[in-house]
Amino acid sequence: MKDTLTIIKERVSIRAYTTEPVTDEDVETLLRAAMAAPSSKNKQPWFFVLVTQAEVREELASELPYAGMLRSAPVAIVVCGDTRVHTGYSALNWVMDCSAATENLLLAAQAIDLGAVWTGVYPYLDRIQFVRRILQLPTHIVPLNVVAIGHPATHPPHIDKWDPMKVMNFKR
Ligand SMILES: Cc1cc2nc3c(=O)[nH]c(=O)nc-3n(C[C@H](O)[C@H](O)[C@H](O)COP(=O)(O)O)c2cc1C
Repeated sequence: MKDTLTIIKERVSIRAYTTEPVTDEDVETLLRAAMAAPSSKNKQPWFFVLVTQAEVREELASELPYAGMLRSAPVAIVVCGDTRVHTGYSALNWVMDCSAATENLLLAAQAIDLGAVWTGVYPYLDRIQFVRRILQLPTHIVPLNVVAIGHPATHPPHIDKWDPMKVMNFKR
């Protein structure tokens, strides 16, 4: 197993997959990593919808504008937030919590040599309503993204994104 910093450094979005299936064990590994994420007040407002049926992946791919790779990804995980969990002033904290969970999931995929990509749903109302309709989700469950997952058919090089101009070393 590679060390954590190497996994973080080498993770890239993978949008093409082989036909090799993703095992249930691997899916559980990804979901366990997602649920290990930090969350505001440790409220864990996430909810995950696992989509493996080709027919459903096809429907998602056909309507989500940048998610054509869902057709060839054997597994899609829809990361959702339960908006009942955080209320009032904290109502939007589900977005940060579920984003942290998604990044954990992406890194776990990299760690076990799977390829994955975050495809955006939230905050676009048309995409949210579409995914909700297809997956028959109640209104308190908001899809944040659909993560396409499979065995990589391509191995794009990772690009070093280090930019010291984006860092301010503040001192009084
Ligand atoms: C909020 C968010 C939305 C994204 N939406 C899409 C998407 O709809 N389709 C897609 O192919 N990639 C999507 N991506 C992946 C980005 O395009 C990708 O992370 C970025 O180009 C950097 O490349 P890397 O992941 O290989 O480092 C999204 C990423 C984030 C964080």
